[in-house]
Amino acid sequence: MASKYENILNFCFKKGYFYPSNEIYESVAGFYDYGPIGAKIKKKIVDIWRNIFIDRTGFHEVESTIVGPEIMYKASGHVDEFTDPAAECLKCHSIIRIDKLIEEKLGIVWDGKMETIESIHNQHKLKCPICGGEIGNFKKVNLMFKTGIGYGNTLGYLRPETAQGIYTSTIRNAKTLGLKLPFGIGQLGKVFRNEISPRQGLLRLREFSQLELEYFVDPNNFNCNIYDRYKDMEIPFMAQDGETMRKVKISKLFEEGILNKPFGSLLGMDMEIMTRIGINLSKVRFRHLRDDEKAHYSKISVDVEIETEAGMLEVISNAHRTDYDLGRHQKFSGKNLTMQTEKGNVIPNCVESSIGLDRLFYCAIDHGYRGEGRENEWMQISKSISPFNVAVFPLERRDGLDIKAKEVMEMLVNKGISVFYSDTGSIGRRYARADEIGIPLTVTVDYDILDGNAVTIRDRDTMKQEKAFLEDIEKMVR
Ligand code: GLY
Repeated sequence: MASKYENILNFCFKKGYFYPSNEIYESVAGFYDYGPIGAKIKKKIVDIWRNIFIDRTGFHEVESTIVGPEIMYKASGHVDEFTDPAAECLKCHSIIRIDKLIEEKLGIVWDGKMETIESIHNQHKLKCPICGGEIGNFKKVNLMFKTGIGYGNTLGYLRPETAQGIYTSTIRNAKTLGLKLPFGIGQLGKVFRNEISPRQGLLRLREFSQLELEYFVDPNNFNCNIYDRYKDMEIPFMAQDGETMRKVKISKLFEEGILNKPFGSLLGMDMEIMTRIGINLSKVRFRHLRDDEKAHYSKISVDVEIETEAGMLEVISNAHRTDYDLGRHQKFSGKNLTMQTEKGNVIPNCVESSIGLDRLFYCAIDHGYRGEGRENEWMQISKSISPFNVAVFPLERRDGLDIKAKEVMEMLVNKGISVFYSDTGSIGRRYARADEIGIPLTVTVDYDILDGNAVTIRDRDTMKQEKAFLEDIEKMVR
């Protein structure tokens, strides 16, 4: 029997949420397209992110290039540090993510040292999960996609995070806009990671989207005014021991010296976006990473993990990147990347919230999916991310009802309400179609429109139907 996760994936493939890219050819693992429904939902999540992380805070957004020169990624540490451990099957020559195999087969969490992998293998003689052959050739492989720039030997990389394009222009943008520390610069966009063995669905992609905010602060003064908005917010926090869970105010974590104020503010914003897009908060935890789990640039790391039918997913990473990135870019570029403060010129410190958009999208879908209790599977996602505000159907495609229904659609669209119009299939199938893509309200244009200007409104969640006048629809939708 298919697992619930497989049911969700199949449902999403069938209903136009997402599906394997270029599937008329043999699809390549780790690449997925968003269909007409998924693309709309994704855009709504982006709009909510922009509202919380950029517009409401008075921060700014950039759009930097995807291809970057080698020196930039030498400076950032990605050329040397952005690696995963791999092994090769000596029989079928598959490349295997060896730390994951060790974890799956032996329950041992890798400590980050290649020597440990070799000694574990010598003891347990792991085999290739594909053909059962011997494995060997243990090595670290870099996860960046390489590309040639122009026709010479100039090496470039596809960006593995959007953050670096923010760092290489931080000082320019601060000058242009007259910014003083603290300030934030965000970016959304595609990033690329050549994963060794991507899993099915949107969980480990080779091409995916990030929503990142880099919050630059004065290293001598970590005060920031957005902290007041979030300090009393409670978050489910897991200690570095990986066991102790508590619901705790952000201000308490600050008082305990676990976080600084900008970092706490980012956790508050993470909590807010999850709330607004309808993530089930009882399935969320903020996990304080151990030192051996942190990225090479991070002093404090807190991941947001969300429980789904595919297991616990790391969806947002928050890191205090200190002056690591700007310091390294200053060194490698020879340019002055300091800013003036009361105590002289300093390299700004940076705290970051980095959201894996595709995973956040998947979590919203996973938590909204309803596979039981009705004839058809349906989607109870939050109204805030529903692909359309309302569906409009004529009861029949005759007696002028379809013409009237199109007029209703146009009236609503002109008021800024997004409408899904359908007049194919039976009325029951049309309701099912609206439920499958998570539309909260349906307007059916029936014969009452001809003599009373009335329509039938149906609620997705309760399936209750009631009569309403055309002029009231806008209010009901809003
Ligand atoms: N910018 C953080 C990350 O990509 O993991």
